Amino acid sequence: MDTILEEAIVKKLVRYALDARKSAYAPYSHYNVGAALYTMDGKIIQGCNIENASYGATNCAERTAFFKAVSEGERRFCAIAIAGGPADGEPADYAYPCGICRQVMQEFAGGDFVVIVAKSECDYKIFCLKDLLPSGFGGGQLEL
Ligand code: THU
Repeated sequence: MDTILEEAIVKKLVRYALDARKSAYAPYSHYNVGAALYTMDGKIIQGCNIENASYGATNCAERTAFFKAVSEGERRFCAIAIAGGPADGEPADYAYPCGICRQVMQEFAGGDFVVIVAKSECDYKIFCLKDLLPSGFGGGQLEL
């Protein structure tokens, strides 16, 4: 996909996502995920996955980044980079956002929101949210 984001920004977001993996709390899956959320005014907010012994209480890296950002007053986002893989190694595959995270992205960003899945600074793929979550449910449906 062509993106309005400059390559230098994409690579920076990937670096921040890889860096965020270091903070992951994943004692059960040993799968560390990092995310770097880019706001319209140029801030980068990092997030990591935070697991729980009650597995359903786990929070994904992407949602950690979104919830941190929104709780700090941010509401306008243009992109997120995601990197995930074994705790003791580099990502071997692209880590695509789970369905719940895609839904949270939809709440706070439009269909053109850019989602970057990365193995490294040189190996990544770029999507837009409307392709990852077609026909998504949004607040508009609740306007009865
Ligand atoms: N995980 C994320 O952080 N983001 C996703 O989009 C998918 C999964 C985390 C949750 C859990 O800590 C680990 O990856 C294994 O599912």
